[in-house]
Amino acid sequence: MVQTSSVEALVTSGLTRRFGGRTAVNGLSLRVLEGDIYGFLGPNGAGKTTAIRCMLGLIGRDAGTVSIFGESDPVKQRSFVGAMVETPAFHPWMTGRQNLERAVAFAGRGTKDDIDRALQLVGLWGRDAEPVRTYSLGMRQRLGIGRALVGQPKLLILDEPTNGLDPRGMREVRDLLGQLAKDTQLTILISSHLLSEIELLCNRVGIIEKGCMIAEGTVAELVAGKGSVVEVDVSSPEPDRLRASLAGLAGVGVLPAKDEDEHGALRLALDGLTVPELNRHLVQDGVPVSALVPVQHSLEELFLSLTNKELT
Ligand SMILES: Nc1ncnc2c1ncn2[C@@H]1O[C@H](COP(=O)(O)OP(=O)(O)O)[C@@H](O)[C@H]1O
Ligand SMILES: [Mg+2]
Repeated sequence: MVQTSSVEALVTSGLTRRFGGRTAVNGLSLRVLEGDIYGFLGPNGAGKTTAIRCMLGLIGRDAGTVSIFGESDPVKQRSFVGAMVETPAFHPWMTGRQNLERAVAFAGRGTKDDIDRALQLVGLWGRDAEPVRTYSLGMRQRLGIGRALVGQPKLLILDEPTNGLDPRGMREVRDLLGQLAKDTQLTILISSHLLSEIELLCNRVGIIEKGCMIAEGTVAELVAGKGSVVEVDVSSPEPDRLRASLAGLAGVGVLPAKDEDEHGALRLALDGLTVPELNRHLVQDGVPVSALVPVQHSLEELFLSLTNKELT
């Protein structure tokens, strides 16, 4: 598991960016701690790329602050960060290595050793003398991540790194990110509109919609924070007694039934009430509980319920 320190790698506060009358990023506050693999999740058009461009100083912001390892000065911030925003562009007739050399020369940061190391990290060692036009999309994407790594960043920001790739390319990049998380000390922010892309990789997640942060925390916190759901089964004909008993109880809500069920099972959302407390209350009220089963929420259900969008 990822070890997280309490050092703040990237903090935005009230980040806001408008395009004409449209607010693409709306008072966004997020917090990435050193060592986090942070999933920046939201449906298409939520404002992820715009927020990332603002964080990187690639575009201006209308309001808010960005702090990277405690620095608010954009030049100092840049020295900590490697980034890949949207699909990386390369010179197709130049080799992978030449493209990285160019990037190093352009950025004024990075050495030959850094290039070697980046090529090794992204699995392009041995393919670096071939022109980029012969690379698969997955290889180009990995070269893009390699380019973000050459300056030895402490914070790696990747905007939808698997977007536009075929399943094989997605797999390549996903495996690479898992490896980077395991093998390096990097703090990584990865944006995606696909929950499946980041659910397994990330220790912390921020979910944005319409430019606003709607939930942020560890996967476990987010799932738990939604309120746990339990299924209560009472022997027929007691469901009315169960409902009556629940009516006088705070911190619990009855969820709509999944299907008409004749057994008297109810799905309850607990908000502030624990399962043992619920059980005690029902027993004291003389409700014959035959089963009390916690229902696991997946992050996917949470994401869907928070953003109300189909995952595409
Ligand atoms: N350069 C731009 N000019 C005008 N509107 C933009 C521009 N860039 C992004 N937007 C708008 O801002 C919103 C957020 O877009 P974007 O940040 O690309 O979302 P995401 O990366 O989450 O898909 C969208 O409504 C998009 O159309
Ligand atoms: Mg985007």
